[in-house]
Amino acid sequence: MVEVATSMDGKVCMVTGANSGIGKATSLRLARMGAAVVMVCRNRQLGESARLEIQRESPNGEEKF
Ligand SMILES: NC(=O)c1ccc[n+]([C@@H]2O[C@H](COP(=O)([O-])OP(=O)(O)OC[C@H]3O[C@@H](n4cnc5c(N)ncnc54)[C@H](OP(=O)(O)O)[C@@H]3O)[C@@H](O)[C@H]2O)c1
Repeated sequence: MVEVATSMDGKVCMVTGANSGIGKATSLRLARMGAAVVMVCRNRQLGESARLEIQRESPNGEEKF
């Protein structure tokens, strides 16, 4: 995977459909770039599961909201 150097520190990003597919991949990449990611999901259980996975795979991943 190609890592980009751009920082998203201090940015807040809202991603819809964030528990799978393109939304989940986007959420993970933004989190790795330093953004605070608001994951909008219609199923809470699937959303929580995706959030935990993304936090595990992101340096300094923490729940802020
Ligand atoms: N994946 C690719 O490589 C690719 C390539 C080109 C184009 N696309 C297109 O990009 C779009 C997204 O694809 P995707 O791979 O990310 O998979 P997807 O299954 O279309 O989207 C996954 C996410 O969208 C949510 N979602 C689906 N239908 C919804 C609805 N009616 N209302 C609210 N949320 C909804 C899902 O929620 P739930 O988990 O609750 O169902 C999940 O969070 C699709 O239109 C697809 O055709 C995808």
